[in-house]
Amino acid sequence: MANSNKPLLVTGAAGNLGRRVVELLLEAKAGPIIATTRSPEKLADFAKRGVEVRKADFNDPNSLKTAFAGAERLLLISTGDLFPEGARLRQHRAAVQAAVDAKVKHVIYTSAPSPYPTPAGSLINDHFWTEQALFASPLEWTILRHHLYTEFLLGTLSTALKFGQLTNSIGKAGVNYVTREDCARADAAALASSWSGRRVLDVTGPAPITQAELAKLASNLTGKPLLHVSVARADHAKLLEAAKLPPFLIDALLNFNEQGAHGYHYVAAPTVQALTGKGPTSVQEFLTANKAALTAS
Ligand SMILES: NC(=O)c1ccc[n+]([C@@H]2O[C@H](COP(=O)([O-])OP(=O)(O)OC[C@H]3O[C@@H](n4cnc5c(N)ncnc54)[C@H](OP(=O)(O)O)[C@@H]3O)[C@@H](O)[C@H]2O)c1
Repeated sequence: MANSNKPLLVTGAAGNLGRRVVELLLEAKAGPIIATTRSPEKLADFAKRGVEVRKADFNDPNSLKTAFAGAERLLLISTGDLFPEGARLRQHRAAVQAAVDAKVKHVIYTSAPSPYPTPAGSLINDHFWTEQALFASPLEWTILRHHLYTEFLLGTLSTALKFGQLTNSIGKAGVNYVTREDCARADAAALASSWSGRRVLDVTGPAPITQAELAKLASNLTGKPLLHVSVARADHAKLLEAAKLPPFLIDALLNFNEQGAHGYHYVAAPTVQALTGKGPTSVQEFLTANKAALTAS
């Protein structure tokens, strides 16, 4: 990782991804580092290690001017506020404007695969319009389109193993899951680099895997039977509703399945290797290392 002497700022630094990025920057002695968060008290450990911790809430645009002051490069971590509809997009637009006002040179944004606008607000709509806000700004930027986190397969597969069925509406398309750890490594490297300009990069695992292959892999690792059952979106929706998930989450999951079925997640990009010098972790490697979590109750 490059050893910058210009201030590097990470937003949302108390989240899983943000914490890991800051940790990687500290390990690489990149920086100086500014970490912003809604909850500075959660980052007392980083403050002790020389990180400048500042309070920032994207719902409070006035707080962002001070929070972003002096940053040369800024990692804008998409927030977890999927509900109510439109809230996250307002937050991201406020953050982009604040980066412009604070004269940040380069923004790295954690986007999603193949973003597109939707008539009603949606998770992918947020990413599309946040990217557009960056495109329209005078900033330099690196859009890092994080593909689906491999970590989430642990919950999905452990539930599926209980029933012997992995039921979803992705069909036969491959999905190139990427670990959050590899995303954090790519984010940290892009932030600490001196690369200037404007680029869009997909952050993916090494190769796509189908749902049938995934079921077989989990079955082989645990010794339990597991088959992929492909259903239409409407039937998948009924199953998710029966599981009493909140409507915004059901919508997000169904859309991810539909995007996967359309091949939007069937992308293998060299980004992780190119930015970090080390290739991404495969689903097989990740599940093997976390085998115990697949059968944990
Ligand atoms: N690719 C995928 O499969 C996938 C899966 C899940 C999530 N994601 C996205 O990736 C992001 C990071 O993932 P994660 O695992 O680190 O999620 P997480 O642990 O749930 O963290 C949520 C993040 O949202 C930030 N946030 C929430 N409200 C905010 C506000 N009002 N102003 C500023 N920041 C706010 C939090 O920052 P503070 O708490 O520090 O303020 C934190 O960084 C998520 O927020 C989500 O957008 C991607």
